[in-house]
Amino acid sequence: MTLSCIVTGGAGFIGSNFLHLLAEKRPDWRIVNLDALTYAGNLENLTAIEGRKNYTFVHGDICKTEDVERAFAAAGPKRVVVHFAAESHVDRSIQSGVPFVTTNVLGTQVLLDVARKQGVERFVHVSTDEVYGSLGDTGFFTEDTTIQPNSPYSASKAASDFLVRAAVHTHGFPGVTTRCSNNYGPYQFPEKLIPLMIANASEGKPLPVYGDGMNVRDWLYVVDHCEAILAVLEKGRIGEVYNIGGHNEYPNLFIVKTILKTLGQPESLIQYVKDRPGHDRRYAIDAAKIERELGWRPRYKFEEALPLTIRWYQSQGEWLQRIRNGAYRDYYARQYGS
Ligand code: NAD
Ligand code: DAU
Repeated sequence: MTLSCIVTGGAGFIGSNFLHLLAEKRPDWRIVNLDALTYAGNLENLTAIEGRKNYTFVHGDICKTEDVERAFAAAGPKRVVVHFAAESHVDRSIQSGVPFVTTNVLGTQVLLDVARKQGVERFVHVSTDEVYGSLGDTGFFTEDTTIQPNSPYSASKAASDFLVRAAVHTHGFPGVTTRCSNNYGPYQFPEKLIPLMIANASEGKPLPVYGDGMNVRDWLYVVDHCEAILAVLEKGRIGEVYNIGGHNEYPNLFIVKTILKTLGQPESLIQYVKDRPGHDRRYAIDAAKIERELGWRPRYKFEEALPLTIRWYQSQGEWLQRIRNGAYRDYYARQYGS
């Protein structure tokens, strides 16, 4: 019997990359994409797969039971879920936390309830390393690190992780959780560090660096992340958490300077701005468990995938311009004051 994969948030950054991966690697699967098309959801990310006969888009909100049920009705009887849909940007959560609690917490519970009643075979909950809080100069997050979220975004993701854990524990629900570090690559909304800096540098605009620019993130190319999620979907153990990361720790300033150099722009474009409140200092992932148990390893090196990403954004001028028009301008003005 054909497997149906219900993907939430498939019009966003990682979700759309995951749908491209499924279309290539699992062409016989039926795919149902449930997405509310918030500011971050963009069907243009999916033009390459929208005509396929085994792909269905369902415009709906994970907070609404009837919308989630419509997605299940569009799938066949043998079903798995990969849950990406979320409010995902830390700075927006600092401006206003309610949408984060609504989608990330309430939405996840609604989805879990419907998925349980519908008897799904597997449910992969895509979470984040930010639930672990912040590291000092040394050490790594393991799956056993204490959950200590510091932003409204990460607190809402931590709550959703606990809801998945509770469903597994209470109902024997077939849930698995992944926690990944910072992703970069095609189709990322240009509010996040790397696409924002590429877009601004390309236009000769200032590059806003928070604080001293020495906060460290552990970067993972989005294709590697999507391959890890597929491995967890197919081989992960129910009830487990898998950290996903690529041992690519860099301070923000290094990333920004590399982008400027690659684009032939001067470092004078760097503009130090007010720090993010509660800014986590360092993230670094220990991904030994997924490597050991599922045989997953990142394929892309940062030195090759960052230039690939920069070239992708340069070749997608219209995609970028359409996003940077309209409502995004209002957010940008609120966040950076210009
Ligand atoms: P994104 O913001 O680019 O996309 C989110 C998608 O979810 C959009 O298509 C949006 O329309 C959809 N959505 C939002 N609210 C919805 C709702 N109520 N109902 C249905 N759809 C809704 O996010 P992303 O960066 O692709 O992140 C995807 C997931 O991965 C999130 O759960 C995020 O927490 C997690 N994650 C992201 C990163 C990263 O670096 N981007 C790293 C680790 C984990
Ligand atoms: O670690 C995984 C997380 O990575 C995901 O769960 C989140 O969904 C994703 O948004 C990302 O969170 P970050 O807050 O780490 O990513 P962001 O791109 O917003 O910021 C990366 C670093 O760059 C962070 O230290 C803040 C800094 N920064 C960011 C922006 C937008 C700047 O210095 N200037 C900026 O304008």
